[in-house]
Amino acid sequence: MSPFLLTRTLPEDATGAALRADVLQGLTRTPKTLPPKWFYDARGSALFEEITTLPEYYPTRAEREILVARADRIAEITQARTLIELGSGSSEKTRHLIDAMAYLRTYVPVDVSESALTGAANTLLAQRPSLDVHALIADFTRGLALPGTPGPRLVAFLGGTIGNLLPAERAAFLASVHDLLSPGDALLLGTDLVKDESALVSAYDDGTGVTAAFNKNVLTVINRELAGDFDPDAFEHVAVWDREHEWIEMRLRSTADQTVKIHALDLAVDFAAGEEMRTEISAKFREDGVRAELAAAGLELAHWWTDERGRFALSLSTVA
Ligand code: SAH
Ligand code: AVI
Repeated sequence: MSPFLLTRTLPEDATGAALRADVLQGLTRTPKTLPPKWFYDARGSALFEEITTLPEYYPTRAEREILVARADRIAEITQARTLIELGSGSSEKTRHLIDAMAYLRTYVPVDVSESALTGAANTLLAQRPSLDVHALIADFTRGLALPGTPGPRLVAFLGGTIGNLLPAERAAFLASVHDLLSPGDALLLGTDLVKDESALVSAYDDGTGVTAAFNKNVLTVINRELAGDFDPDAFEHVAVWDREHEWIEMRLRSTADQTVKIHALDLAVDFAAGEEMRTEISAKFREDGVRAELAAAGLELAHWWTDERGRFALSLSTVA
């Protein structure tokens, strides 16, 4: 018997239907776009983990530094008995928090990546066998049905993944998090901060090409799941800083005029040489902006902690 519960909140065909709808919509609009959540099959999740070890990719190290320094304080303030983590991935940094949380009984990691959830749950349980782990395969942008677990509850959303949502998506997401929280519960939010353009661009365009492989993985996912014939070698990885929106944009640039067929959708998509398709935004934040977005969702920012070099922030908020 599995030592943890793994629940799929949507049937597998609903995930397939969501992918079909996103690909159809994204590849038939101008400019073309694909949502970043489709990066994360088993290979995409493994590539992301590799990214977190790259010298150029500072966010994971900076956030870990804050967690190590502040985990005791977070545990003391929240006294949480349940930790719910959205977009938990490998849960690698979360270990620092879990170790500090003396009252913690239940951990609920939520992710679209089944491989990441299974790997994380097995690793955590090997370290802390008494923890109840109830992993949820779910899309955190689509309304969360969480198991009934003891309060107080701490919802963690780490890694800066909130920056992968567009502003309107962030507002809807934060409102849905607010609706999950009762008085006495809290939200721990990781946000990457605005900084020097060259540091940002190298974090998303590393010298060894791991981020490029991660970016192109969305094409491989579409090929496998929707019988597509994308040639990943016919696209180039692009990372640009959008100064106006203060976000990094990852794109895939077609290296030639080409037509791609997505057989499961009966779709032929023309790409012009040089045409760019957006695959991810990664918004960078300032304290005032984070406070305002939380307030608009009925959440009150109570604590703001950064790493020594001020690259990344963790904030703790409560229901206003
Ligand atoms: N929190 C981890 C992982 C960040 S990577 C860290 O800080 O290192 C982003 C994670 O969010 C991936 O594991 C991915 O599978 C997951 N994810 C992305 N979009 C999602 C969505 N819409 N719903 C649920 N999980 C999502
Ligand atoms: C998961 N997310 C916060 C990462 C980021 O930095 O936006 C995904 C990523 N994209 C490229 N590198 C890492």
